[in-house]
Amino acid sequence: MTTKNMEIDYNGLMLISEGHAAFQVLWAAVELGVFEALSEHPGMTRAEIAERLTLQEQPTRILMVALAALGLVRKEGDNFFNAALTEEYLIGDKPGSLAPVLGWQHYIVYPGLIDFVEAMKEGTNVGLKHFPGEGDRLYQRLVSHPKIEKVFQDAMSALSQQANTQLVESLDLAGVTHLMDVGGGDATNAIRFARKFPHLKVTVFDSPSICRIAQENIAKQGMEDRVDTVPGDLFTTQYPADIDAIIYCHMFTIWSPEENQRILQKTCEALPKGGMAIIFNMMGNDDDTGPISTALGSLYFLTIATGKGMLYSWRDYEEWMRTAGFSGVKRIEGLPMEHGVFIGIK
Ligand SMILES: C[S@@+](CC[C@H](N)C(=O)[O-])C[C@H]1O[C@@H](n2cnc3c(N)ncnc32)[C@H](O)[C@@H]1O
Repeated sequence: MTTKNMEIDYNGLMLISEGHAAFQVLWAAVELGVFEALSEHPGMTRAEIAERLTLQEQPTRILMVALAALGLVRKEGDNFFNAALTEEYLIGDKPGSLAPVLGWQHYIVYPGLIDFVEAMKEGTNVGLKHFPGEGDRLYQRLVSHPKIEKVFQDAMSALSQQANTQLVESLDLAGVTHLMDVGGGDATNAIRFARKFPHLKVTVFDSPSICRIAQENIAKQGMEDRVDTVPGDLFTTQYPADIDAIIYCHMFTIWSPEENQRILQKTCEALPKGGMAIIFNMMGNDDDTGPISTALGSLYFLTIATGKGMLYSWRDYEEWMRTAGFSGVKRIEGLPMEHGVFIGIK
């Protein structure tokens, strides 16, 4: 996967240099319910929008001019309409809405990225200082910030829900008997896999506290006979012996290339001959030119989340898998939101 190198035009330059303002326009429209209002009543005038959202005239004008300039709404005469993509992705409760992801951008990424230059110079996540607390990673700090932790969980589940449904559809696990989902979180994926492949046993491997959440979820869905949990640390705990496929979903962006290489080495050693390793993630282009969502998404991992990870390219994963000893490494492209899958056989 590559993109042609493209050079910026003047509008593009304005959009980047005032990107902070553009994001606040988008966030304000989501937070104040402008898109919902226009979805329910297409064609409202500015005065009608102001009245419905109990806003003053001048601030409403500023917001609506900016929304029209950015193409998020369309203005026909005095009437406003949501753009097609706005209707598809930015209406709060609609399935597939990206509105929760914008909450994460607003409360976590936006304040933290002010320190990107410092993070570049020091090579670590100095933006974490905006979230005081214990630990050197965002995930540990969020415990002290319940409101922001909720924003984070809502965003992750909105992102995962869309992409993960497609993951289950794209994989053929007919030849696998026991799959382990490392960092499997609340077992949503594990349960989906077990439902799709009735012969399959699935184990969620995650930290003890997350395994407890997964167990509750498994019990609620009545899947205890086929889905279980193994608590542990993926760097230090030995993997169980009877597993013939290991999957990592949204995991490798957290760590450095060296750590990812170590994980894949351990994975290869734990699997029997013919066993399968599966990686599911957002993927950057082979030639490091984009796409925009992964290129810009990496800043969060360096500056705020862990200080080590990034959204790696297809080629990185391919090289790590081959070096770890997997053969027949295969890509599945074209999943939503720049996601892709790698499958390697031991
Ligand atoms: C970004 S979430 C991914 C969750 C899920 N796989 C998904 O795609 O929705 C990362 C998961 O990795 C787990 N995790 C992080 N570090 C870990 C470690 N050292 N050992 C085991 N699990 C870990 C976290 O508890 C969390 O559930």
